[in-house]
Formats: sequence, structure tokens, C-alpha cells
Amino acid sequence: MARKRRWGWSPAPLLPLAAALLAAALLVDVAEPRAVNNVHDLSGELYSEIRELLSMHRALHQRGEACGLGAAPAPVHPRLVPNWPLHGPPPLGQVAGVAVALNGFPVVFHRGARVFNSQSFNESHNFQFVEEGPIPEDTVLTLDPDNGDVLAGWGRDLFFMPHSITIDNRGNTWLTDVALHQVFKFGPGDTKPSLILGKRLAPGPAEDQLCMPTDVAVASTGEVFVSDGYCNARVLKYDPAGALLRVYPSQELLQLQVPHSVALLERLDLVCVADRENRRVVCPSAELRAERAPGPPVSVRPEELGRVFAIASFGDYLYAVNGYTHTTPSLRVGGFTLDPAAEAVIDKWGPPQGMSNPHAVAVSPDGSALYVAEIGPNRVWKFDLPQAA
Ligand SMILES: *[C@@H]1O[C@H](CO)[C@@H](O)[C@H](O)[C@H]1NC(C)=O
Repeated sequence: MARKRRWGWSPAPLLPLAAALLAAALLVDVAEPRAVNNVHDLSGELYSEIRELLSMHRALHQRGEACGLGAAPAPVHPRLVPNWPLHGPPPLGQVAGVAVALNGFPVVFHRGARVFNSQSFNESHNFQFVEEGPIPEDTVLTLDPDNGDVLAGWGRDLFFMPHSITIDNRGNTWLTDVALHQVFKFGPGDTKPSLILGKRLAPGPAEDQLCMPTDVAVASTGEVFVSDGYCNARVLKYDPAGALLRVYPSQELLQLQVPHSVALLERLDLVCVADRENRRVVCPSAELRAERAPGPPVSVRPEELGRVFAIASFGDYLYAVNGYTHTTPSLRVGGFTLDPAAEAVIDKWGPPQGMSNPHAVAVSPDGSALYVAEIGPNRVWKFDLPQAA
């Protein structure tokens, strides 16, 4: 098992790679020092690895073909857009969430003058400042993608502690509020929710409750995944109307510790979770397609990743941001590109001056831009994803 995904899933070069490995085995000249006694042992081992690679290659192909799509485009390196926002940072509170609307305009979910700190919640996860009422400022702001100016806003007198924003492929906006312990769906242009999950100001582990829900991902077919969150440590899957379909984890195999962000890799039929305090991204089967038996979860957990705060999907890949990791303070805080199928970090990125507390990441629907929202300092970074011509 341990060696199963050593080389990852890279569809195209597998056969030449296999041939090269066999040739290397026969020449005996293997660069890595290994405890191998003779050519037979080594080539036997390589044969079995090649068999595994070929079967993974087939599995990946079947997954991709089942979607009727070609190969997933490789993720490009995010390139910082300098001087964005052009007119200096807009007056934002803690920028908890960022999403990109269907027209490519970034939308942030911020906390106005309210601040999330160690006083905000008590031991039973109840928000301690309910009497202050909802945030009186517009909490959902649309920014100009070219210069970062605030173009429009809504969401005043509704939310107590914003946490995440997701815009699905039908233009619905999904917001999570960790103080209300609820998830809200708003149709395009609406300021009244068309769906609410969880019980207002009532944290709990029941099936109709949430406890500080952190994020939402929505499948192209409408199924909804909620990472729930700071206390319940589970991910819930609902049908498009909000009926509960399943709860992750269903077995001991997948213990979560603060699932802080969730993203779908639909071609691979995986739902990926930023399992923050376990310092990994773990992706169980999303079970969006019935024809395939779900495999075991894949997991990306290299030391350098530390506490993963947020993930956003792009094709078969994820862009991720991490945060300060108390146990290893020297770890770099910034952006990472992950290949979950290969269980690997394949790129690192970020502004040259570094980031302090990135909290959310989003990719535009056309894949041309990436945004990172940061809390303290409160700001949004824009990166270009230059597409191959
Ligand atoms: C937490 O706060 C809520 C409401 O403010 C209260 O009902 C509850 O008893 C408190 N829990 C603890 C453990 O103090």
C-alpha cells in the first residue's frame, strides 16, 4: 500500500516510463541506493509497480472518459497581479471568503467591524455577542476584476460571523455563518435566502443542525457539500433541494479535525476537504456517479503543507493556501498547487512579500484568474492564470 502511489497518476508518459524502468532494471544501474540483492528481485519489484501504474492509468482514463471529457489541463503557475487593487485596499473587515461570479467578477464575504477572536464563542460553541445583532454593513461585496474597486454590495443586517462564500454554476450564492451555525443559498440577484441549512444560533450534532459550518461546494448536478466545521468535524452531502444524503466520515478511516474548506473534483468523483488540524487535504469519493464503486480516500499531506485553510478546484487539481502552523512555526505560509490523484504538491506560489493569514481561495469559472482573501491584514490578492494559447 505504502508504495502504491509513488509516481502519481500521469496518464501520457506511463508507457515510456514503464519501458525505461524495465530497461533500467535490466541494466542494474539504479541510482537510488536500495536493499536489493539481485537483478531478479529488482525487476520483480518493478514489474509489480508497472502493473500498478498501468491499472491506475486505466482507472484514471475510465474516470475521465466517463465524463466525456479529454485530458484535464495542467494547472498553470499563479502570477501575482501587481498594484491590485489599483486604488489601495478597499475598506474591508476580516475578509473571510472570496468567490468568483459567473461573469468573472470577484465577490468577497467580509465581517465589517466585527472580529472573530478567542472571546467570540464559548465552550459549547455559542456566539457570545448575539445581543450586538447582525453586522450592519454590507457583508457581500462585488469587486471590479480590473482595479479591485468595490462595485456593489448587499448583506447588511443578516449575518453575525461570515465564514465562506461559494458561487455555483447556476449563479447561486452560498454563504456560511459560523455564529448562526447556518448555510444560506441565495438565487442570483436575491437578498432573501431560498434555502437554509442548520438551526439559527443553535449549534449541535443532529442531522438538521450544523456547528460552525466552514464552507460549501456545489456539484454541477446540484448536490451540496458542507464542511461542518469547527465542532462536528464532518462533511454533509445534500441533494439539490437540501435533503441530507450522507454524512462523512461514515467510518473510523476518515477522522477529520476542523474540516475548514471543501472543493469538488468532479471528473475524478472526489470531494476534497482541507482537514486543517490534521494538516492534510483528504478526498473521499463524492459518489456523484453511481456506476463506479468508491475507492479509498486519497490524501495529500506533505510536511510543508502544514495547516491547510482553503482549497479551490481547477480541473483535476487544487489550489490551496495554508496558515501558521504552531507545531512547526518555520513552515512557509502561502499558496500550493496540489495533484490529489498523485497525492502530491506540484507547485508553490504567492506574492513575493509573502502572506500572513490567507483564509480563502477561488478560481474564476473560465480559469483565468485566482483570488486569495486574507485576514489580518484584511485584503484580497489577485493572480493571473495565464492560459496556454
Ligand atoms: C455558552 O453560551 C450560551 C449562550 O450564551 C449558554 O446558553 C451556554 O450555557 C454557554 N455554555 C457554556 C459551557 O458556558
